[in-house]
Amino acid sequence: MNLGLGVNIDHVATLRQARYARTPDAHNVEPDLAAAAALCERAGAQSITVHLRADRRHLQDKDLARLRASVRTKLNLEIGNTPEILAIALQTRPEDVCLVPENRQEITTEGGLDAHGLRGELAGTIRQLNDAKARVSLFIDPDEAQIRAAVELGAPVIELHTGAFANATGEAQTAELHRLRDAAALADGLDLQVNAGHGLNYTNTLLLLGAVPHLRELNIGHSIVSRAVFVGLERAVGEMLKLMAEYKG
Ligand code: PXP
Repeated sequence: MNLGLGVNIDHVATLRQARYARTPDAHNVEPDLAAAAALCERAGAQSITVHLRADRRHLQDKDLARLRASVRTKLNLEIGNTPEILAIALQTRPEDVCLVPENRQEITTEGGLDAHGLRGELAGTIRQLNDAKARVSLFIDPDEAQIRAAVELGAPVIELHTGAFANATGEAQTAELHRLRDAAALADGLDLQVNAGHGLNYTNTLLLLGAVPHLRELNIGHSIVSRAVFVGLERAVGEMLKLMAEYKG
C-alpha cells in the first residue's frame, strides 16, 4: 500500500491571519485556504489536514466549513479534547479526526497526547467520534503505554509524534529513530494504523522512511509551505510525494 501524504495547511491560514486577522471579511483577504487545499490535492496529496485550535490562531470556523465543502480527498481535522471543539468536529464530519494536546502558550503542538494518563477523559470523546464514523487517530509519543492506551480506548489509528526525532541530531536522533521504529512495530502488531508527523522536512523524512516500518500516512505542514514560498505549493507537495514514493513499508 502506498504511503499517503496529508498536507497541513494551517500555515497558509497563519500567513493570512498575520495581515487580515482583524478584517476577515475584507475584499482583498489572501491567501485563500480552499485554493491551497485544491492545489495540494491536484499535486497528489491524500488528505488535507487542519487544526481548529481553541484560540483560533490560524484556522477559523468559516474555513473549516468551506474546506468541508471543497475538499475532494479526505479532511483530517486535528482537535484538542474540549466539548466546544468536539461539537464542531461532530457537526463538520471530517473523514479523520486526530486528537492532539493543546496548550495555549505553545507555538505548535509540543508533546504527544497523554492518552494513557487521560484515558478517563478521552473515552467518551473517542466513543462519540467512532459512533459518528470519523476515523479517530491519537497523536502520541512513540511510547508503549501510549500505544496500549490507544488500543484500550478503541482508536483505530495512531500518529507518532516525530518532533523529538526532527529536533535531535547525531546519536540522539538515531535513538529517536529507534524509538519510532519499535513503536511502529508494536502498534502494527496490535492492528493499529500507524501514521507519523511533526517537524518532518525534505531531508529528515528520508531518514524516517529508511528506518521506520509500517507507516501509512505522513502529515506534513511547515516544511512544505516553506518550500512553497520558493517553488509553489503544487511543486512542493510533488517533491515530497516523490521522495515518499520509494518507501518500502
Ligand atoms: N501532525 C500533527 C498532529 C500536528 O499537530 C502537526 C502540527 O500542526 C503536524 C502533523 C504537522 O507538523 P509540521 O507543521 O511541523 O509539519
